[in-house]
Amino acid sequence: SEAQRQRSKDLYTLLDDANQYYQLQLKGSPAAIEYLKGRELSGEISKRFNIGYSLSGWDHLLNHFKGSYAEQQLVDSGLVIKKDDGKIYDRYRDRIMFPIRNRKGQVIGFGGRVLGDDLPKYINSPETTVFHKGRELYGLYEARINTQKLDRIIVVEGYMDVIALAQFGVSYAVATLGTATTEEHIKQLFRAVPEIIFCFDGDRAGKEAAWRALENAMPVMQDGKEIKFLFLPDGEDPDTQIRKIGKDAFEENYQQADSLTAYFVENLHSRFNITSDEGKTRFLKEAAKLLTKMPDTLIKDQLVQRLSDMTNVDKKVLFQREISSNNSPKD
Ligand code: UTP
Ligand code: MN
Ligand code: MN
Ligand code: MN
Ligand code: MN
Repeated sequence: SEAQRQRSKDLYTLLDDANQYYQLQLKGSPAAIEYLKGRELSGEISKRFNIGYSLSGWDHLLNHFKGSYAEQQLVDSGLVIKKDDGKIYDRYRDRIMFPIRNRKGQVIGFGGRVLGDDLPKYINSPETTVFHKGRELYGLYEARINTQKLDRIIVVEGYMDVIALAQFGVSYAVATLGTATTEEHIKQLFRAVPEIIFCFDGDRAGKEAAWRALENAMPVMQDGKEIKFLFLPDGEDPDTQIRKIGKDAFEENYQQADSLTAYFVENLHSRFNITSDEGKTRFLKEAAKLLTKMPDTLIKDQLVQRLSDMTNVDKKVLFQREISSNNSPKD
C-alpha cells in the first residue's frame, strides 16, 4: 500500500543516515581505526565498503536520531531494541559496522563486529521489512559496480573475506549473512553470472556450509551454469589465504576446485563404504534423494553415469524409480 511504501522509504533514509553516522563515528575513534589497521585493511577499501563504528554506550544512535525519527521507526529498522518492559537501547555498541546494501545500492541492514574476542563476534540486523537474509548477499552491489565485466562470483562466509578479497583485486566476492546459502541466493547469482565458486572456511563449519550449498543448488542447476567448490587448507579463510598467497595464486587455485559432480561423488563416497552391498545400497539411496531434487539436465546425466561407473550398477536400472522427476528448471 501507499502507506507501506512510504514507511519503507523512510526506513531506507534512516538506514542511510545511520550508515553516514557510523562512518563519522569511526573517524573519531582511534581504537576502532587501530583495529582495522591491525586487520590490514587499507583506507581506500574501508571507504569503498563504507565501514563505520558504533560507539560504546547504550543510546548514542538513539539520542542522535530521536529528533529525526519516531521511536517505532528506529525499532523497525533493527538498529534499536525495545524490551517488553519498555527499555530501549542501541543494538550495536562498540562494534565495527558493515553496511549491507540491496541490489539497488540502498542500505538495508548492518553487520557489526566486536573489536576483541567477546561473543557473539558478529551481530547482524534482524529480518525487517527491507532486510531478508535468505535473499540478500553482502557485497553483490559493490561487486557489480567495481567489476568491469562480471563473469563469475565467488561466495564466501564473511564480511572480512569479501573486503580482503576486494582489497587484493578479487572484486567479485559476496557473502551470505550468517545463514546458509539458499536456493534464492543461487538463483539470483545465476541471473548475474554463469559461474559460482563456493569458497568457505577450511574448517568443519565451512565444509558443512559447502554441502548445504550443494543441496540447495541441486534444484536450480541448469545446463550452461557451473558451480565449483574451492576448499581452503584447514584453519584458513579467504581473508587469511589471499594475504598469504596473493591474488594470482588465489585465482589459479580455481583450477583445482571441485566441480559440482566431483564434490557430490567424493563427499558421498567418503561417507559410505561401497565395497559392501549394504553400503552400496545406502550410498545409492542417499544419491537418489539428492538427484530427485535436480531438474533433468546434462549435469544430472553425468552424475548418474559416474554413480553407475562407481557401483557397477547399470545406468538404466540405477534410479529408475527414485530419480525419474518431472522437475523442470525453475526460472
Ligand atoms: P567466522 O567466524 O568465520 O568469522 O564467521 P570471520 O568472517 O572469519 O570473521 P573475522 O575474520 O574473525 O573477523 C563467518 C561469518 O559468519 C557470520 C558472519 O557473517 C561472519 O562473517 N557470523 C559469525 C555471525 O553472523 N555471527 C557470529 O557470531 C559469527
Ligand atoms: Mn519485504
Ligand atoms: Mn569459520
Ligand atoms: Mn576471518
Ligand atoms: Mn572465517
